[in-house]
Amino acid sequence: MAIEFKQVNYLYKSFLHENSFSLNNLSLSINSGEFILVAGQTGSGKTTFLRLLDTLILPSNGEINFDGQIINNSSPEKILMKVRRNFGFVFQFPQRQLFSPTVLDDVEFAALNFGNNKAEASKKAKEVLKQIGIEEDLWEHSVFNLSVGQMRKVAIAGALVNQPKYLLLDEPTSGMDEYAKNDLLKILNYFHEQGATIIAVSHDINTLAPLVDRAIIFRRGKIISDNNPTKIFSKPMNADIQPPSTVSFARSIGLKSTPLSIDELADEIEAINE
Ligand SMILES: Nc1ncnc2c1ncn2[C@@H]1O[C@H](COP(=O)(O)OP(=O)(O)O)[C@@H](O)[C@H]1O
Ligand SMILES: [Mg+2]
Repeated sequence: MAIEFKQVNYLYKSFLHENSFSLNNLSLSINSGEFILVAGQTGSGKTTFLRLLDTLILPSNGEINFDGQIINNSSPEKILMKVRRNFGFVFQFPQRQLFSPTVLDDVEFAALNFGNNKAEASKKAKEVLKQIGIEEDLWEHSVFNLSVGQMRKVAIAGALVNQPKYLLLDEPTSGMDEYAKNDLLKILNYFHEQGATIIAVSHDINTLAPLVDRAIIFRRGKIISDNNPTKIFSKPMNADIQPPSTVSFARSIGLKSTPLSIDELADEIEAINE
């Protein structure tokens, strides 16, 4: 086990929503090496969950055990910094995360922040940009001239440059075309195979469900399902989450199975025709 939430509550101190829990008595474990999809309607607590994982916010009550380091409401910044080093966070809107004059500067900045000297930071930034498929001719460009897909890749490079154990992504495919999504999936798969634990919040069930080992569905700050995606989508659906379109299609033609991808669906149909 790597991370354990024990009865975690989170309450935003907002005069508009007095005493409304964004996360309510959350207990769960995340194991090292998992690839997890977090889904649920807008406002169900997904982003709050990621921010707690990255220790950007602290539990109002309860505690989180990060590989033996307990974090609670009174944990000092020094300890939080130590925990945070294990995480790379890709925000929902990469344009809010990126701010340096050039692509290379931005990724270097993340490495400098972790105590690398300029030469090391530059070397690591170039390595990760190459791995992620941002070509050298873009390194001196302003990040704000890039497409959404490329911007998100730069944000991912910044998150990965310090080789975090955990990669957190908030709506990583939003605003991306199929081609850019495909690249992103390859990148996530690659880092997952290298041993990273990945937690992705997404509405894009079609894209992510075939990849992940586990899906966690939130409703109003609570977990309502936590299982592998085949199990989750084999059940009758509720309003919280749409099944992948391949599952809906399979149902519409009377199949009882739960194909999560076009390939799986094609195999099923072929089997009937044989
Ligand atoms: N900064 C904030 N101040 C007050 N309430 C917030 C804030 N951010 C989120 N909330 C509330 O917390 C709940 C969960 O929000 P969030 O974690 O952003 O959900 P999701 O990412 O699933 O859309 C919502 O009811 C939302 O209105
Ligand atoms: Mg959100």
